[in-house]
Amino acid sequence: PSDIAAAVSRLEKLGISSPALYDTPALNIAGNPFDLFRANISKTLSEISGVEPDLIVPALEWTMTPDRGDLVIAIPRLRVKGKKPDELAAEWAEKYPSTPFLSKVAAKGPFMQFFFDPQLLYKTVIPEILKQDSKYGNSNVGAGKRVIVEFSSPNIAKPFHAGHLRSTIIGGFLSSLHERLGYEVVRINYLGDWGKQFGLLAIGFAKFGNEAELERDPINHLFKVYVTVSSAQAAEKDAGAAAETVLALKASLKKEGASDQEKADIENKLAEAEIKAKELAKVALDAVVVLDKDHPLKDEKDIDPAYFIPRPIDSEAKAYFKRMEDGDEEALSVWKRFRELSITKYTTTYERLNIHYTEYSGESQVSEASMQGVIDLLEQKGVLYEDRGAKLIDLAKYNKKLGKALIQKSDGTSLYLTRDLGAAIERYEKYKFDKMIYVVAAQQDLHLAQLFKMMDLCGFPWAKDMVHVNFGMVQGMSTRRGTVVFLDTILEETKDAMHDVMKKNQVKYEQVESPEEVADLVGISAVMIQDMQSKRVNNYKFDWSRMLSFEGDTGPYLQYAHSRLCSVERRAEISHEQLMAADFSLLTEPIAEELIRTLAQYPDVLMNAHRNLEPSTVVSYLFKLTHIVSSCYNILWVAGQEPALAAARMALYSSAREVLNSGMILLGLTPVERM
Ligand code: ARG
Repeated sequence: PSDIAAAVSRLEKLGISSPALYDTPALNIAGNPFDLFRANISKTLSEISGVEPDLIVPALEWTMTPDRGDLVIAIPRLRVKGKKPDELAAEWAEKYPSTPFLSKVAAKGPFMQFFFDPQLLYKTVIPEILKQDSKYGNSNVGAGKRVIVEFSSPNIAKPFHAGHLRSTIIGGFLSSLHERLGYEVVRINYLGDWGKQFGLLAIGFAKFGNEAELERDPINHLFKVYVTVSSAQAAEKDAGAAAETVLALKASLKKEGASDQEKADIENKLAEAEIKAKELAKVALDAVVVLDKDHPLKDEKDIDPAYFIPRPIDSEAKAYFKRMEDGDEEALSVWKRFRELSITKYTTTYERLNIHYTEYSGESQVSEASMQGVIDLLEQKGVLYEDRGAKLIDLAKYNKKLGKALIQKSDGTSLYLTRDLGAAIERYEKYKFDKMIYVVAAQQDLHLAQLFKMMDLCGFPWAKDMVHVNFGMVQGMSTRRGTVVFLDTILEETKDAMHDVMKKNQVKYEQVESPEEVADLVGISAVMIQDMQSKRVNNYKFDWSRMLSFEGDTGPYLQYAHSRLCSVERRAEISHEQLMAADFSLLTEPIAEELIRTLAQYPDVLMNAHRNLEPSTVVSYLFKLTHIVSSCYNILWVAGQEPALAAARMALYSSAREVLNSGMILLGLTPVERM
């Protein structure tokens, strides 16, 4: 319900008695200036035209440029029979009464354009923004609703790659956005923390892991262990295969009845195979010795290439994972420590990005029972079929693109998809969500489409509330030295690079109190803004020099714009009371009008972002805002002006700073006051 009474009393204080307002729950009349105008225009236009106000409200649209008004309506959308849209537009514009809400109503072809009265905007929007506990832009559309946002979801012992970074940034934004719109938000990190690679990791760690290293830097250490043990595993496999070839050739030499020519051929092959087997055995030996100092074969001379049957890392790993799956406490405790230490480390890194999770979940947390439950349900619905002991589902019947999906292997083990099916049910049971958002790369479009379709086939009505927010790839994200990236490393490097950029301006640099901290915050903004600047589906190139620049639409530029507004505020030394009581009739310049019209859009911008789930909607708006503010500096002086004029202008600048600050925090940045 809109609290129209609050809006009416505010308008009456401004001398607008019994304002024409259409009261509808679809509009946030008290909190969103555009909705206030929508309520007014729909009521008045309805009286003139006889069209239902409910039809008018959604037809009032934003314009591309301020010279076309603040809201515009395409008359054909109102479906009035008889007259031509052009005629109706002209007729209604003519009949439109003069009102304190609008400075102009114009007909343009089949459109009617509405120009908000700037004085009314100054008087309503500025005090609303500057109110002590301003929640300008917030709304209660989500009140009483719960949304799950699943995001980041990296894999333990594997790199935190660009896809995880994007998921983290976009998911953090979507969580905050929903919170501001009144939803209760549950943030879930669904870790890749299960699978046979953990058997491999555990035996790798037993062979050459290092306790101190694990405690100090679990993420990098586990990755190192994993890389080493998996390359040893591969080397062993190759050496084993080569040794088998040698044995097979030797066996065929002994066969009776081969011609001399054939024997000669086999001998040639055998000679080659022995060389190859010896080489691979050496590689495997090196890899194995790195892993295991006590390995019985320590020396090249110990190897007989034909009989080199290396210690089977592969089967050890499988056996280990089997113990984990069977719930063997000892096997699980090792894995559990890896998981916990990784989570602790991730938590501090996420904190740097202002991100906190409600729950660290993961593939390992999905119960056998929930997975079996889904399989049973699908079986009952008659949509599963078996192939050589494995269970599959043919989704192509419903949508060609969905194809077939495997949900249980012939040995009865689960898959990534099976675990997601179980996880979805568990989440619904636990949270009864109204919406569940998966922030996952577009590479997994098919996976999520299959998941959603299967939940739908199970007959869960909430399947329609599952949303995949996808995104494109980042090209060339590596550290500046070109190695594999971990989130932490990227943030450290950005900080250092930003610090270097800052040091170039010696004078300014010396005024910054804690340059390291500022470099960190500005550096993080650089990474985040680069990521959120264009539509999610677009790929982009990770570009160090462009993203760290203060010129152009970058994170550092937004930070600079914010700190400059802070500095204007500091120097003006005008009290909050003076700003609230300022005489806005002194604001007459077109650039001031452009600024207030833009500030009035902010709550609507958040609603648009809520609709398209695009951070770029907010980012583009903040750039538009900061560009206008920057044009204001040449015209709207504060220093050295009459106190009344200075106060009015300062109130406008302070409002701009509030909105910029609010938008930056929404995006996950920490605005700095000096830089
Ligand atoms: N851990 C996965 C990966 O790195 C992403 C998980 C996405 N979420 C999900 N529910 N499947 O690819």
